Amino acid sequence: IYLKPFNTFGIDVLAKHFISIENIEELKQVLLLDKYQDIFILGGGSNMLLTKDIEALVVHVNLKGISIISEDENHVIVQANAGENWHEFVLWCLEKDFGGLENMSLIPGNVGTAPIQNIGAYGVELKDSFVSCNALNIATKTIKTFTKEDCNFDYRNSVFKQEEKGKYIICNVTFKLSKKNHNLHTSYGSISDQLAEMNITQPTIQDVSNAVIQIRQSKLPDPKKIGNSGSFFKNPVITKEAYLKLKENFQDVPGYSVSETEIKVPAGWLIEKAGFKGKQFGNYGVHKAQALVLVNYGNAKGSDILELSKLIQNTVKHIFNISIEAEVNIL
Ligand code: EPU
Repeated sequence: IYLKPFNTFGIDVLAKHFISIENIEELKQVLLLDKYQDIFILGGGSNMLLTKDIEALVVHVNLKGISIISEDENHVIVQANAGENWHEFVLWCLEKDFGGLENMSLIPGNVGTAPIQNIGAYGVELKDSFVSCNALNIATKTIKTFTKEDCNFDYRNSVFKQEEKGKYIICNVTFKLSKKNHNLHTSYGSISDQLAEMNITQPTIQDVSNAVIQIRQSKLPDPKKIGNSGSFFKNPVITKEAYLKLKENFQDVPGYSVSETEIKVPAGWLIEKAGFKGKQFGNYGVHKAQALVLVNYGNAKGSDILELSKLIQNTVKHIFNISIEAEVNIL
């Protein structure tokens, strides 16, 4: 089948063998089929750039279901299966007034792929409410529980992108959320401005979610209309020394301190300064409202977008002497 509907970049490549699984038993059965040497795990398809047809067996993880595992007066433990759409899961929590995920509203993708890159937005990361996840070991067909410590979460990174890469299929994820006295995070970027604009002085978690949705919709293209994978690159972290040197030549370069010695520089700023913001190359290009996002205006080839990403990397390196690394998986 053609994978265009299964990736938010809207790239049309052929999957020669494709199966959608709805329960863990089915998944184990599929892994036992030894005629397939290689498998390709597909979740929400929101963080990948497909550049060629896929020979491996594509396994679409379509495990559904959300349940409350336990609760007390203040907190609730919720488990969501991997195939649940992330934003719909966030909305389910907001409906029940469970707090912790509201800043991560409208992030594309599924619950099961969220831990792999420790998704995050507006000052909150998945790891802040993550308890554990259950994952199927592809080689042994046994389920392993990964605690937060096991996952080794970092900025857009986890054990599933490092030493355990490609070895597990995440089946479900467990979160600890607040039932009252919600801990609101409104200091990041423009959230407080957005709330003020909405005339809200005592925000609820639902208000924070709405503010985030407004901000995202104003900057980020809707993948249903324009194919994209969110931020294409990670924000580079450079030494304080390198940052001060950079500032001598580019006085207005923004930077956020991440440790005593390191500064995170917004890649969107570097790409904009390099002249790429809003640039269109035929049917693909750089988004006009956020230079960190590469877009497919329709029928672009993954390899063309990959070439553009390399041109951007080389230009940024040439101008600023900073290497920017892709955040999306290139396949
Ligand atoms: N900027 C520009 N020009 C641009 C874009 C950004 O100059 O075209 C500069 C501005 O100085 C702006 C700063 O970059 O203030 C930060 O921009 P923004 O708040 O849009 O955030 P970001 O650093 O570009 C990160 C995440 C996003 C997340 C937002 C909000 C990464 C790689 N990206 O983007 O995550 O939504 O912060 O928290 O960390 C994603 O991972 O796919 C994603 C969209």
